[in-house]
Amino acid sequence: MAQKAKVTLERSYTIGEVDKKMFGSFVEHLGRGIYNGIYEPTHKETDEYGFRKDVAELAKELGISVVRYPGGNFVSSYRWEDGIGPVELRPKRLDLAWRTLETNEVGINEFASWCKRIGAEPMIAVNLGTRGIEAALDLLEYCNHPGGTYWSDLRIQHGYRDPHNIKIWCLGNEMDGDWQVGHKTPMEYGRLAVETARAMKRFDPDIQLVSCGSSHTFMDTFPEWEAETLSHTYDVVDYISLHQYFGNEDGDTANFLARSLETDHFIKTVIAVCDYIKAKKRGKKDIMLSFDEWNVWYHSKTHDDNEMKDNPWQTSPSLLEDIYTFEDALVVGCMLITFLKHADRLKIACMAQLVNVIAPIMTQKGGGVYRQTIFYPLLHTSKFGRGTALRPIVDSPKYDTKDYTDVPYIETVAVMNEEAEELTLFAVNRSLDEPINFACCLRGFEDYSFMEHIALESEDLKAVNTFTNPYAVAPYTRKDSCLNLGKGEFTIELQKASWNVIRFRKTN
Ligand code: AHR
Repeated sequence: MAQKAKVTLERSYTIGEVDKKMFGSFVEHLGRGIYNGIYEPTHKETDEYGFRKDVAELAKELGISVVRYPGGNFVSSYRWEDGIGPVELRPKRLDLAWRTLETNEVGINEFASWCKRIGAEPMIAVNLGTRGIEAALDLLEYCNHPGGTYWSDLRIQHGYRDPHNIKIWCLGNEMDGDWQVGHKTPMEYGRLAVETARAMKRFDPDIQLVSCGSSHTFMDTFPEWEAETLSHTYDVVDYISLHQYFGNEDGDTANFLARSLETDHFIKTVIAVCDYIKAKKRGKKDIMLSFDEWNVWYHSKTHDDNEMKDNPWQTSPSLLEDIYTFEDALVVGCMLITFLKHADRLKIACMAQLVNVIAPIMTQKGGGVYRQTIFYPLLHTSKFGRGTALRPIVDSPKYDTKDYTDVPYIETVAVMNEEAEELTLFAVNRSLDEPINFACCLRGFEDYSFMEHIALESEDLKAVNTFTNPYAVAPYTRKDSCLNLGKGEFTIELQKASWNVIRFRKTN
């Protein structure tokens, strides 16, 4: 016997506009993310710049709106100047973050042009680990000044006449973590970040800056880090960053599927700290949230630790190549739903990362490409989740796990696209045992009819996609899952352990 749950939506109970930057990604100079990932000049399917066309097509399919670059941990000891000018003259360097050899074949110009070709906005992190204000200013001038100065003329000389006009800049990366080259105390970071930000905004007050938040909620300094650093940077920054990764190390899937409750708590805590600092400073603006690293990450960790210890200084080795299971896709779906539930304050989210490195897209050197399981929830939310997020009133049966109590079986949110006259509900059924009859009461949408129900389901929670079986886990359109009760009332059957996209459209 199926359990029952209900969501009530009211057209005017809006959360906020979903920013298209919610569907962002991240590419770092790490493993095969760039080299033999987005860029593989010897591959038969490259564009004229040596970037893989099949990868670019999948990034476009995902509708990736913003891409963070060049790190990650990598940025904290990066000299951006190594990546400009004639490729044959660029130095090879040791990258201390991942203990690899960096060839610098790809740098800011190649990356910014690639972003343009895939229709995404670059989001560039400056090095506040080993470097500081001067290097950040030089990079900004090189990228954004039209010409007539040392750095802008150098860009033109390098073949890029038009400025890249990069608008979003991250002030360092995970500076609270002791694994970071140039790790800082909150006071050290806050001072450096505010002075860098002030100088950068002198160049262009319209750029948007992201202050570094905590690397994870389990950091001892969370959330004091946010409070202390923001007390320095509040006036000059626009966003604070959040990073979060989950794993199912102990094989407790019911607990793993509940992890997004932590995402929700994390977001609420960071908003509370931002608002506290705003109040303390008698401020007028709200600091927005940039969830600029998030995903499931654990499958490859032992391999990577050994590889970095035993075989350092390789060029683009296979690192962080998690092969994602079906249950990982459900966690990713729950995280995306949680982001949409905070659309009023969470404006940027970058799945970490895009290709090969903890990524939705996998490539084979000289070979093909496939979509991992986690590709699909990102694809669906990016495609159907643009518009206005609506506050869902959910009545769901609940369960308890090792780490959480009262976990709702149903995680859901809705997005209304007024222009297209469509309404889309995203829902995960966390129950591992039973389908759920999901009653949807759509107030203010009485003239809408059911359009389609797309689902990601699998009998095997550990199912993965591979080069030889790329569609083992793939979405399909469900037939006969919806019962129309009239006047905006529908009941949809959600299979156990499933990701669901339920679409409604105004009846003509
Ligand atoms: O995305 C992988 C790594 O995770 C990033 O380099 C770092 O910022 C985080 O710890």
